[in-house]
Amino acid sequence: MYSIAVQDLHKTYNGSLEPTLKGLSFAFPTGKIVGLLGPNGAGKTTTISILCGLVKAGKGSVQVLGIPQEANYRERIKRALGVVPQQIALFPQLTAFENLEYFGNLYGFKGPALKTQILALLEQFGLEKAAHKETGKFSGGMKRRTNIIAAILHRPRLLILDEPTAGVDVQSRSMILQFLRDYNRSEGVSILYTSHLLEEAQHLCEDVVIMDDGRQVVQGNPAALINALPACRNLEDVFLHFTGSKLRD
Ligand SMILES: Nc1ncnc2c1ncn2[C@@H]1O[C@H](COP(=O)(O)OP(=O)(O)OP(=O)(O)O)[C@@H](O)[C@H]1O
Ligand SMILES: [Mg+2]
Repeated sequence: MYSIAVQDLHKTYNGSLEPTLKGLSFAFPTGKIVGLLGPNGAGKTTTISILCGLVKAGKGSVQVLGIPQEANYRERIKRALGVVPQQIALFPQLTAFENLEYFGNLYGFKGPALKTQILALLEQFGLEKAAHKETGKFSGGMKRRTNIIAAILHRPRLLILDEPTAGVDVQSRSMILQFLRDYNRSEGVSILYTSHLLEEAQHLCEDVVIMDDGRQVVQGNPAALINALPACRNLEDVFLHFTGSKLRD
């Protein structure tokens, strides 16, 4: 069984001349932490938006936890999927607690059980003292941690995170990465994440897809990919080997 399988995915945004996805294919087995990597503009966020049912693909097929993209897709994956978007999605005038209550309500959770769960997660993420402060006044790391809690309140089986460690300090990053490892191990949750920090991806992910210009260029276990190329010492070398050094717009 695959957590995510995409086959020959194509996407051209309205008004764009150039396609963003040009036949992207990959599949990840369930229960693993995997990475979707690629330079700026490769199409990672577009792919995630399609997986969530927020953006419509032009051609190709998508399956998330075995659920094919057809009628009622968003409704069918809502329970199973948690998403942490690249852009922070919190109401800045609301406190962390109020934001999380709002997201919990969207999934039909309310009352004392929701309150207890929010407080436990805020504590787990080191935010107990900030629970009743407006998120607009939070640091980047605090906003990211709150955003992650919002995506796991409903206990999804698959968690997708788009650059969850971008712009956060070393302490927050380390906490987030340790959380992802523990969450995967203890709950068996499948995790797909994107990052430009290749050393981080090398250590975190069991399997990575490197994509460039809307297509997959290679997939594999980071150590196996490094070992297969004698000139490459780490995942960054592998990445540059497959994507080249040309600057992207
Ligand atoms: N809503 C949109 N309308 C038109 N073009 C878009 C839209 N969203 C993304 N694009 C274009 O699609 C391409 C891929 O963008 P996408 O955000 O998926 O890349 P990415 O791999 O997530 O990049 P980054 O690493 O910078 O986050 C880019 O050229 C971008 O300009
Ligand atoms: Mg992106």
